[in-house]
Amino acid sequence: MKLILLLLTFFLSSLACAQENAQKPNAAGQQAQHKHENGKGSADHGHGHEHADKGHSGHGHGDKAHDDHGHDHGHGGGHHGHGHKLDETQLKQFFEPLPESIIDAQKNAALIALGKKLYLDPRLSVNDKISCNSCHSLSNYGVDSEPTSPGHEGKRGGRNSPTTFNAALHVAQFWDGRASTVEEQALGPILNPIEMGMPSEDAVVKKLKAIDEYKKLFAEAFSDQKDPLIYKNIGVAIGAFERTLLTPSRFDDFLKGDQDALNESEKRGLKKFVNMGCVNCHNGVAIGGNSFRKIGLVVPYETSDMGRFEVTGIESDKKAFKVPSLRNIAQTGPYFHDGSVETLDEAIRLMAKHQLGRDHVGHGMIRDIKAFLGALTAKEAK
Ligand code: HEC
Ligand code: HEC
Repeated sequence: MKLILLLLTFFLSSLACAQENAQKPNAAGQQAQHKHENGKGSADHGHGHEHADKGHSGHGHGDKAHDDHGHDHGHGGGHHGHGHKLDETQLKQFFEPLPESIIDAQKNAALIALGKKLYLDPRLSVNDKISCNSCHSLSNYGVDSEPTSPGHEGKRGGRNSPTTFNAALHVAQFWDGRASTVEEQALGPILNPIEMGMPSEDAVVKKLKAIDEYKKLFAEAFSDQKDPLIYKNIGVAIGAFERTLLTPSRFDDFLKGDQDALNESEKRGLKKFVNMGCVNCHNGVAIGGNSFRKIGLVVPYETSDMGRFEVTGIESDKKAFKVPSLRNIAQTGPYFHDGSVETLDEAIRLMAKHQLGRDHVGHGMIRDIKAFLGALTAKEAK
């Protein structure tokens, strides 16, 4: 199932790229596709790793100037929907509604229940005070609303806590993608000295083995295993639980054909999001989460965090981060990898400037895009 989803996201993003390349024939982004067909690779065909980054600078200039002006004034009721009808086939190239589920919840009921218990349990931390839920609160859209998160000693890392909601859909985990799955990711924070601070895998296992309830729950969840309470299985269980954290939104209803699921301002925002080029990076089932892109692609962005470069050591990955999913984005501020951006308005403005080279986006534009992003919020909070 995961594979299908991944393939789907890749398919969608390659469609998005294909479209973009069609518009920008010299975009560096085509190199991957063209490498094989074009035997006579010229100098700029050498860096297959640039994730189409360079292809974006001119994008979005086709956007009509009138979009910037208070578009929602002056349109009487008679013009309902006028000019805002979105081409459905175009939308389907960029976005995909959330699947019903990505894990068989019935078959994995014991595993998921164990994972949820572990996720909420502060005993996974050295001082019994910090759980996954401390930084990724299930009653707060999977985040802690802090710029960076205080761990077991109150120390903070350099990065903002992303939401765990829908994270299982991402191509990889963390801002720099250093863990490939939620199962693998979950094992990191428990031992991270500034997060949950447990001294070793053995210490965690020993601690859980001393709790009768966990002995029972692990045996039930991993009934085919002789010695189920091992460190790796903590990740397997938490990951299974995280796979249930999908949050359908009104935008999903819209994608499935309910034209009334979005209001006029949200529809305008969607159109601008697409036409302006946000969709080049924020696309697919999670509206992001499926590629790594440089922050400051067009206009350089100041940050000392080298992002993906720290994982790959590849020059072009400097300041590249996983493109965040925009699901629930209206609820998960502060924004950016370091939590330095307080409001969604500011995040949109910075994106337009640094990723698309659009310096003077008007209030109307920001308001509409923000309205659209609001329609990506879970219909019911988890
Ligand atoms: C002290 C706060 C803190 C605790 C406790 C914590 N996390 Fe995180 N989590 C973070 C931060 C900060 C990041 C981003 C770090 C980075 O990208 O380098 C993160 C990243 C993640 C991600 C990646 C999401 C994405 O979009 O890339 C997942 C999933 C996640 N945490 C799950 C968990 C689980 C499961 C636990 C418990 C085992 C946990 N976290 C405990 C702060 C915390
Ligand atoms: C070239 C790729 C690219 C384009 C185009 C792009 N973004 Fe982004 N976006 C990113 C990346 C990468 C980040 C993470 C930046 C960071 O944290 O340093 C991001 C972050 C964001 C965030 C903050 C997410 C969070 O969880 O903190 C928002 C909101 C956002 N983008 C919206 C937009 C909007 C709206 C547009 C169009 C105006 C847009 N983006 C265009 C790549 C892109």
